Amino acid sequence: MPWYADDSLWVDFAPAMFSDRRAGTVAALVRDAPLLAFPPGARVLDLCCGPGLFLAPLARRGHPVTGVDLSEPMLDRAREAVAAAGDGARRRTELVRADMLDFVRPGAYDVVLNVFTSFGYFTDPADNLQVLRNARRSLAPGGKLLVDVMGKEVLAGWIGRPQTVDLPDGSYVVQRDTVLDSWRRLRTEWTLVCGETARTAAIHSFLYSAAELHELFLAAGFTGVECYGDFDGGPYDQHARRLIVTGHAPG
Ligand SMILES: C[S@@+](CC[C@H](N)C(=O)[O-])C[C@H]1O[C@@H](n2cnc3c(N)ncnc32)[C@H](O)[C@@H]1O
Repeated sequence: MPWYADDSLWVDFAPAMFSDRRAGTVAALVRDAPLLAFPPGARVLDLCCGPGLFLAPLARRGHPVTGVDLSEPMLDRAREAVAAAGDGARRRTELVRADMLDFVRPGAYDVVLNVFTSFGYFTDPADNLQVLRNARRSLAPGGKLLVDVMGKEVLAGWIGRPQTVDLPDGSYVVQRDTVLDSWRRLRTEWTLVCGETARTAAIHSFLYSAAELHELFLAAGFTGVECYGDFDGGPYDQHARRLIVTGHAPG
């Protein structure tokens, strides 16, 4: 089984990855961030939606949304998050268990999102390109893809410093990064320490510079490709915290 198909990884580390604090931050982003300001009624596909942190506020805002994820427990959580967002949000939401490598609905969406470093998971680079091609095919002409990852340049600025997340129940998560294959890939080891016990899991993903991800968008057939450093649309420069790349399906 590939590492990303291990449900227990996402479930065990959910308190650190999908905390209430992050849910609040994401809801504020969906309310205010220019890069998430889509036309009213735009149909949104959230590829790798996890527990629905983006999906629920987008559905509440009135968008018909589809959340795709490989993990059934994550989809269950997304279902709960959307239900908590109200009847209208629930009616506007569809949740699909599928692999991003396969999921395509030709021309069905105006926006495709892939956020919080949910890209670059496949060992074969051609498969990661295929995910972008699938997204392009799922978009209506002129539709927009937004991919949000930890950019290689951003990571280089702080890699090596210990990362610890304290959880409300007193447990904590330690994150340790190892650069692989001459900065092509990254291994992130997560250790959850709970009293006397520790549970470790590792995420392996491709690392992209802005130029590399930009090229990949072009190779997948996107036009008007832009790179940003945050959801406010700030530049991808020395102050960037994320690498956000957007592109349009040909009109
Ligand atoms: C880092 S989480 C991000 C979740 C969400 N985008 C967020 O912002 O909280 C990655 C998600 O991708 C899902 N995933 C991993 N591999 C996948 C695949 N091949 N196809 C679809 N979903 C996948 C996992 O189950 C997990 O929910």
